[in-house]
Formats: sequence, C-alpha cells, structure tokens
Amino acid sequence: MTSVTNQPMNPIFNGNKLKLGTFCTNTIANMTFVPELLQPTWKNTLAAALIADEAGLEAIVPIARWKGYLDDRPDHQSNAVLDVFTWAAAMAQATKNTCVFATSHAPTMHPILVAKQCATIDAIANGRFALNIVGGWNRREFDMFGINLMEHDQRYVYLEEWLRVLRRLWTDPGEFDEDTRYFHMKKAISRPQPLQKGGIPIMNAALSPVGMRFSAKNSDIGLISPHGNTPEEWQPQVENYKRMAREEFGREIQLWTNVAVVQRETKDAADAYLKRYAEEYLDNELMDSLMKTISKENNIPEGSERLAFMRKRMAVGAGHPMIGTAASLADELERISKIGIDGVILTWPDYVDGLKRFTREVLPILEKRGLRKPFAKTN
Ligand SMILES: Cc1cc2nc3c(=O)[nH]c(=O)nc-3n(C[C@H](O)[C@H](O)[C@H](O)COP(=O)(O)O)c2cc1C
Repeated sequence: MTSVTNQPMNPIFNGNKLKLGTFCTNTIANMTFVPELLQPTWKNTLAAALIADEAGLEAIVPIARWKGYLDDRPDHQSNAVLDVFTWAAAMAQATKNTCVFATSHAPTMHPILVAKQCATIDAIANGRFALNIVGGWNRREFDMFGINLMEHDQRYVYLEEWLRVLRRLWTDPGEFDEDTRYFHMKKAISRPQPLQKGGIPIMNAALSPVGMRFSAKNSDIGLISPHGNTPEEWQPQVENYKRMAREEFGREIQLWTNVAVVQRETKDAADAYLKRYAEEYLDNELMDSLMKTISKENNIPEGSERLAFMRKRMAVGAGHPMIGTAASLADELERISKIGIDGVILTWPDYVDGLKRFTREVLPILEKRGLRKPFAKTN
C-alpha cells in the first residue's frame, strides 16, 4: 500500500460506503438553454455548495476549462467558467464539512505554482482539499496558450512527471533539483507544505487503458465512465481497475463516477423534464461543435452509431443518466455501490432545486440502507 495521503480529516476518506458530491457548478453542466440552468456566478455556485456542505456530501468538484466548445462565439454561455483554484480557495472558506476539489490542467500550469496554490487552499480548508489532475484534450484551449496538445499517451508520461515533481514539492524536507525531460529546476522548494501529510489527495478522470493505468498507479480516486447502461455491466470494469491498482502497484484506490440526475415525483414527470431540457431547449449548435471535436480527436466517424449514442448521452448531462423518483434513484445508487463504486458526483441543470430534492428525499433512503451514516453536523 503506497498511498500515503489517506488523512482522517478529509471527508473523502470517511467511512461512508457510498460517497457523494457535486460536479461542475463552476460552469454550465448541460448543453441546454433551459432558463433555470445554473449560470456560474459566484452567488449561484455558492448556493449549491452550501446545500451540499450542510447535508454532509463529501465533495464539490469543479471542471477545468479555459474556453467552451464553439469557435467565434465569445458570448456563448459555455465560455463562462470560473477559475478552479480561486473558486476552491473561496469555497474552502465558505464551507465547513465537504472536501473542496480544484482541477489542474497540468500542461498549462507549472508544478511550483500548483504546489503553492494547493497548500494554501489546504490551509484555508483545514485539510479538506483534493486535486483532480487532467492532461487536457480540447485543442482549442491549447491553441490559446500556444502550446501543443501532446499525442494521447504522451499526455500521461508528462502527467506522471508533473505529479512526481508536485508531490516532491509537497513533501521533500529540503530544496531539490530536477533535470528530467519536462522539468529543469534548481533548488526547488514550496512552503508551506500541505496540512495533509504526504500531500493532497489526487483524483484522475482517465478513460483509456493508458490513462487508467496511470490513475491506478498514481491517484487516490479514479473517476470513471464505465461502458454500459447498467451498473451490472460496469462490474467487471470496476473490478479489473481495482485489481490492477492492487496487483500491479500495491495500492487500494477508490473509484467514483459521475451521473446526471433528474428527480421528480413520478417517472413520467422526470421523463417530461428530461425532454424539456435535453430536447426542447437543447443547444444544438454547441452539441454539433463538441461532437465534431470528439469525432476528430478520437477518430470516431461522423454519422457513426457510437457518436450518435454519445450525443444522446451528453444531451442528458455530464455522466450516466439517472432519471426517476427518489426511490428509483436510491435503488440505482445502491446498485452502483454494490458493484464496487465508492463515490458518485452529481450534476443537475438546476443544482439548487436538484440538491434540495436529493438531500431531502434520496439521502434518508441511502442512510436507511446503510450506505451512508446520517450526517452529524460539526456545528
Ligand atoms: C468526470 C470527468 C471529469 C473530467 N474533468 C475534466 C476537466 O475538468 N478538464 C479537462 O480538461 N478534462 C476533464 N476530463 C477529461 C479527462 O481528463 C480525460 O481527458 C478524458 O476522460 C479522456 O480520457 P483519456 O485521456 O484516458 O483518453 C474529465 C473526464 C471525466 C470523465
């Protein structure tokens, strides 16, 4: 067991069998113009975070994006993304219980900068901080920085070197030199080091075999989007991932996934709401552009069945669709937990409404089933 970041004070390592969080409230999470869509003002993202925090959800996870998926549309809502590090610092101060994440777009940020930012946020959060690390994929963002988007597998070679330097800055007792392929550093140091001994916990959202191997070796939490429409179809993928971490790297890692939620009193009402935001108000222009990008970057032919499936899925939101009543959502979360998923981060078009419904009606069912302990407020 080489993971050394397992700190009792960070809620992502608490004893709840199924951990929960929000995803993506620092920008729009859905490709829709539905009027109640959360717009990423500080007031709105804070309102969502405070409900999650008060209910004892373990995590609030933002998304790192420098611009949206449309060219030459500066006013398009997908361009509005609050910076993840300053967002996390303010969230750390505003919340009391939850783990606040930031997300690093590693090739755009030097480890010295990230080491110091993270240690500062960890101090503000009193050890309730974690970092999602990503290697990037949207070429538009890299074109803005004037840097190359590396060939796919090379992104993880870079990420591994970047993370090793970052962890050294967080833990090394002295100054150190680095002279590697990507980093040339003399007498490097970053103080203060994080409150969490061994460094900030790391999450990584890889989907490819190379990426998952990186994550098994280096992360505390792998964020996955397994193939298949049911948790039972995911089970072998989840087991293989954890086995790889255990057998190849001697590590126990958590696996989390992301879901898009619609919760209503009846299944018909949930389906009707889904139709409203994912069909009637769908932002087709944004969807077309994103699909073109995905097709080009991943060699998935336009007009293919696979791309059509992805399009339909993405119209629902960021992740596996969970559409139904409080009881059916609790059932599905229980199935997700049973097959070995440790945590789920949730998105809604309207987070405040969604979180209120979810914490009022779904959480108590999960507690009754032993998936979570009733939350004991710290004050
Ligand atoms: C839940 C989730 C969250 C992600 N968050 C980000 C993010 O904040 N910024 C980003 O550029 N990419 C993000 N990604 C993309 C991943 O970093 C990665 O590029 C993608 O999942 C493809 O995996 P691969 O690199 O293994 O092919 C996210 C992916 C998932 C599934």
